[in-house]
Amino acid sequence: MAGPGSELPSGPVAPMLLSWLTGLGAGMVLLSFMQKLLYPYFWDDFWYLLKVVCCGFRMEMYRLKGELVTVLDKFLMHAKKQPQKPFIIYEGDIYTYQDVDKRSSRVAHVFLNHSTLKRGDTVALLMSNEPDFIHVWFGLAKLGCVVAFLNSNIRSVSLLHCIRSCEPRALVVGADLLGTIEEILPSLPGDISVWAMKESVPQGIISLKEKLSTASDSQVPHSHHVASNLKAPYLYIFTSGTTGLPKAAVICQLQAMKGSAGLWAFGCTSNDIIYLTLPLYHSAGSLLGIGGCIELGATCVLKKKFSASQFWNDCKKYNVTVFQYIGELCRYLCKQPKREGEKDHRVRLAVGNGIRSDVWREFLHRFGNIKMCELYGATEGNICFMNHTGKIGSVGRANFLHKLFFTFDLIKYDFQKDEPIRNEHGWCSHVKKGEPGLLISPVNAKNPFFGYAGNRKHTEKKLLCDVFKKGDVYFNTGDLMVQDQENFLYFWDRIGDTFRWKGENIATTEVADIIGMLDFIQDTNVYGVAVPDYEGKAGMASITLKPNTSLDLEKVYEQVVTFLPAYACPQFLRIQEKMETTGTFKLQKFRLVEEGFSPLKISDPLYFMDKLKKSYIPLTKEIYDQIILGKIKL
Ligand SMILES: *[C@@H]1O[C@H](CO)[C@@H](O)[C@H](O)[C@H]1NC(C)=O
Ligand SMILES: *[C@@H]1O[C@H](CO)[C@@H](O)[C@H](O)[C@H]1NC(C)=O
Ligand SMILES: *[C@@H]1O[C@H](CO)[C@@H](O)[C@H](O)[C@H]1NC(C)=O
Repeated sequence: MAGPGSELPSGPVAPMLLSWLTGLGAGMVLLSFMQKLLYPYFWDDFWYLLKVVCCGFRMEMYRLKGELVTVLDKFLMHAKKQPQKPFIIYEGDIYTYQDVDKRSSRVAHVFLNHSTLKRGDTVALLMSNEPDFIHVWFGLAKLGCVVAFLNSNIRSVSLLHCIRSCEPRALVVGADLLGTIEEILPSLPGDISVWAMKESVPQGIISLKEKLSTASDSQVPHSHHVASNLKAPYLYIFTSGTTGLPKAAVICQLQAMKGSAGLWAFGCTSNDIIYLTLPLYHSAGSLLGIGGCIELGATCVLKKKFSASQFWNDCKKYNVTVFQYIGELCRYLCKQPKREGEKDHRVRLAVGNGIRSDVWREFLHRFGNIKMCELYGATEGNICFMNHTGKIGSVGRANFLHKLFFTFDLIKYDFQKDEPIRNEHGWCSHVKKGEPGLLISPVNAKNPFFGYAGNRKHTEKKLLCDVFKKGDVYFNTGDLMVQDQENFLYFWDRIGDTFRWKGENIATTEVADIIGMLDFIQDTNVYGVAVPDYEGKAGMASITLKPNTSLDLEKVYEQVVTFLPAYACPQFLRIQEKMETTGTFKLQKFRLVEEGFSPLKISDPLYFMDKLKKSYIPLTKEIYDQIILGKIKL
């Protein structure tokens, strides 16, 4: 998912650059006329980067003074200064800064008195968007625990995998997700205590809700959570990376602080009311959204789920001024029937990622002059872009100023082999302007990569070594980007073993493993195919059958809906005689992706997931046409 805010310089270089930039600014006034002619985006770039530098400067001061002001510390400051200010509004109820402070202290006291949790222990949190998500998160943060946010859509084997990979001492689950945990309770490692936000709980689970009602709401001593180190782990957020099952990316204090500066960098203030419908278990919701509100001391209108039909009513009702989006969300809003007074609201700004230029234009035309701020970044990545100039479709712009702080390269990529192109000496090379290339960024002390919890192998897989010279190390974003002549950057595609659908990253191997569990399946190759008018790619599973077996479509359907979250179930099946592999023995995907899902072009049998019939049905030309025309919704 799109990630935490800006990358900021650290180390003594920041103050120096600040004075350098100020000097440069003064000089530039004289050259302003020339500049308008030659560098039309100079001031946009300049003011934006000045903000970035200021923020880096502030952090540098904290560091020099030896006192770290973390996101939690900021929150506590607001709770003291503006206790009565609404922090979260949820289903019409207002939770002030003080309310959230007190209830999170209760959570902390429950764990202090009824568990052996210590500072530095990991606690997994499985909860939908609701105020208690924030109470539990902050409560545990007050004890110095590392909270691992679990995706509330995943179940069974995938969920177990995620829980095991971050080795928690405890697991906290929301009332509505208790069933999900009950399913896996017998398989959970025995040393994990399970706590539920519910009064009556089955055996083997502790009622956190009941204990909260009698817990003290007094302040938790600062010494429990004082952060000594910017690089101390603060959260685990699961991402699909480019390969395999979800991995817990380590979010340290520094990244959380950077993420929380995102809304501020786009010009939000404490008077803003931020509408948040994105899941809190992703970094966009938690770090950028909640963290961003805390940085500003603003109010957040939190929704359990996004609803296109309620969206503008809510915006009007709560005087919303800013919302966070993913591309799909804007498209759903554009698809809503037109109504009177659609421009009659106070929304002035939207921050998010993945909106397509045609939707962007339509959105502005229909809903009025909302400043759309596109942002690119990976949760675990060490790079980020923001569209600080407002070019439609672009995620940002890289010029010589930008390059001082955000170093990145676009390298040539072999789509067929699914790997970077290396020349005869083994080195990678840059793409030309206008050509898609793989986005990588150097990993070094100034630009660290914190890796994933547990498995070192995963961390190493995200890194590319010996790229331009012996011994260099780069973070592989897995994203292909194009840079145009004016240095605007555009997202092109995602490589490797993931694709995006409905705002979620889908790991193809995870889907393939689930389908591969069926006894008549020989091999499964999962990939995404482009469907007109949809963001991301729709899932297709290409399978081969074991000899002398027959395909049971209902079983495949049952298997995927039981074990996979709805967004990860493949929309299409393709039955192949034989799996093709690439020269390096990876499954061939490129050609299959290119071939898409048209029954006119593909002679292999194709099937389509039919939720009414609870099975896969043959993908006929009629069904295909209806999908293309948007009459069948995916
Ligand atoms: C929204 O703003 C109007 C006008 O300033 C005000 O009367 C109203 O109370 C506000 N609504 C909320 C929910 O704050
Ligand atoms: C990003 O692009 C939009 C769309 O044109 C523009 O209105 C907005 O000002 C840009 N963002 C920033 C931070 O300038
Ligand atoms: C499949 O069935 C055919 C004919 O019934 C038989 O000759 C063949 O050995 C079987 N193959 C396997 C792998 O069982």
